[in-house]
Amino acid sequence: MLGAGLDTYAYRGALREQLRMFEVDHPATQAWKRERLTRADIPVPPALTFAPIDFERQTLEQGLMAAKFDPSLQTFFTWLGCVPYLTEEAVWSTLQFVASLSNGAHVVFDYADPPASLSPEARASHDQPAARVAELGEPWLNYFEADKLRAKLLGFGFREIEDLGPRQIGSCYFPSRAVSAPEKGGHIVHAATIEQAPVERRSCNLRSSRVMGRPHGEADAPPRIQPRPRPHPFGDLAYRRSISNFQSS
Ligand SMILES: C[S@@+](CC[C@H](N)C(=O)[O-])C[C@H]1O[C@@H](n2cnc3c(N)ncnc32)[C@H](O)[C@@H]1O
Repeated sequence: MLGAGLDTYAYRGALREQLRMFEVDHPATQAWKRERLTRADIPVPPALTFAPIDFERQTLEQGLMAAKFDPSLQTFFTWLGCVPYLTEEAVWSTLQFVASLSNGAHVVFDYADPPASLSPEARASHDQPAARVAELGEPWLNYFEADKLRAKLLGFGFREIEDLGPRQIGSCYFPSRAVSAPEKGGHIVHAATIEQAPVERRSCNLRSSRVMGRPHGEADAPPRIQPRPRPHPFGDLAYRRSISNFQSS
């Protein structure tokens, strides 16, 4: 989990006993989280390793190697809510490392379309939080155009790239609100260097009903795997669909 923040998957996720997990995060955030875990009396699971790194000062490879990560195992990376805070250089370096893993890897991350490309409504929804995070000293530093990002990912060696824009995310996970979703805004990408089994290579709409095992209309309901305080649209779905491929403890 890159830029793990207060993500709690390692402590309660359905697969926590089958996977070796790494929480990679800025040293200051990670120290704060660990202090909060101690105060809340939540033990660190045996399969979890902390890897403190500042993406702007160290490479992901350096941070993971120091944490005894095995680069020969297939690995799934989630990198949610973090990419926009980084320089492009740090983003590319991290993705290049993921793509370089010899036995294959998946990564899920989010990004946003350039503000100038947004509709006036979407622009207003962007500008307010952007100003707030900038005021707090943690500005959003990057935006990507979907085509250029795809070309970059292919250049790094990713072979399967699924990029969901606001409308697709809406129709997959919040069908009752999809009609009002703007065309441009936030995206979630799943990129893999290894092909998935044909049964899993489906469009998002099909997958959300078949792989998750719930009727399409229930997409707003909490996932059945484990209750979670704040659902990530892609998180458990991606873990579940590819469990057979990923590094296990
Ligand atoms: C908005 S939080 C997202 C946390 C979590 N992934 C989630 O989705 O709830 C952003 C995360 O990015 C991390 N982050 C931001 N800049 C970073 C950097 N330069 N190096 C490492 N982590 C960074 C922060 O420490 C924080 O954990």
